[in-house]
Amino acid sequence: MKLDLAGQVVCVTGGSEGIGLATAKAFANEGAHVVICGRRQSKLDEAVASNSSTNGGTIEAVQADMTKLADIDKLIAHIQSRFGRLDILVNNAGTGIYKPFATVTDDELQDGMAINFFAQFRVSQRALALLKQSSFASIINISGRTAIRGNFPPGSSCTGPAKAAEVRFSVDLATELAEFGIRVNCVIPGVVKSEERLRLWESQASGGQWQADSAIANRDKLEIVSVPKGQTWGLPSDIANVVVFLASPRASYVNGAALTVDGGPHTKSYVSQLYVAQ
Ligand SMILES: NC(=O)c1ccc[n+]([C@@H]2O[C@H](COP(=O)([O-])OP(=O)(O)OC[C@H]3O[C@@H](n4cnc5c(N)ncnc54)[C@H](OP(=O)(O)O)[C@@H]3O)[C@@H](O)[C@H]2O)c1
Repeated sequence: MKLDLAGQVVCVTGGSEGIGLATAKAFANEGAHVVICGRRQSKLDEAVASNSSTNGGTIEAVQADMTKLADIDKLIAHIQSRFGRLDILVNNAGTGIYKPFATVTDDELQDGMAINFFAQFRVSQRALALLKQSSFASIINISGRTAIRGNFPPGSSCTGPAKAAEVRFSVDLATELAEFGIRVNCVIPGVVKSEERLRLWESQASGGQWQADSAIANRDKLEIVSVPKGQTWGLPSDIANVVVFLASPRASYVNGAALTVDGGPHTKSYVSQLYVAQ
């Protein structure tokens, strides 16, 4: 299928690793011009260097924290000065914590909303003028299965509602921006194997007893007991492929959708299996 994305201007927040990086590379491979952001310059440099597009697709980076208004403005100003328009915004930057409700601190509660729902709202609002300059614009918000399944994974009382807000926000935005020809869709990943995320989960699931190397050392053992027979892990590219399709003219009749990409309703949570494995 020809996706007709060559020359499109794309912004992927949190594009230096995991799902965001896979998405940035997938767009670049279609010949698009991609601007990514993240907080760590070293990771951004690696991401830019990893672009392997052979058809003119580019990746450039802006160091910016999506929980800071000044940084969001810096990102938007960069896109304005480089391209003067934005065709596709992928609100991907986000994360989660998984711990018992009674132990969630107020900072964790506020941070969870700030990097998930608030960031998607703020970046979309500030990008609107640039999206209006496009002849075929769309926004894709990355949520997560914790948004739609209660107690998935265990200890989701902070992250689940923040990711749920992103699903609801996407529907509202699709309705409100239709008059400008801007489509808005939401992708809801299941468990996706990204290094940083696994490290975080393993550390959290072990009550912080495992950090970095010790978490990784335990991973092989845990993967063997935790992955149900026949189930494969989701990979960042599984999500990226869907995002690229949704942003393309081939999906022009898809608007206000929340598409779950999780291998099916039977798949179990890596984190819940980790809890069992303790
Ligand atoms: N992996 C999964 O299983 C899974 C499941 C469901 C939903 N999701 C959702 O998918 C999205 C991506 O997840 P992932 O697993 O790919 O994450 P990841 O591997 O941890 O990568 C996160 C990316 O976002 C950047 N980032 C983090 N905080 C940021 C901030 N405040 N401002 C700007 N950039 C920031 C990171 O770079 P820096 O750290 O350098 O800033 C990195 O590039 C998130 O919205 C997540 O909630 C993931």
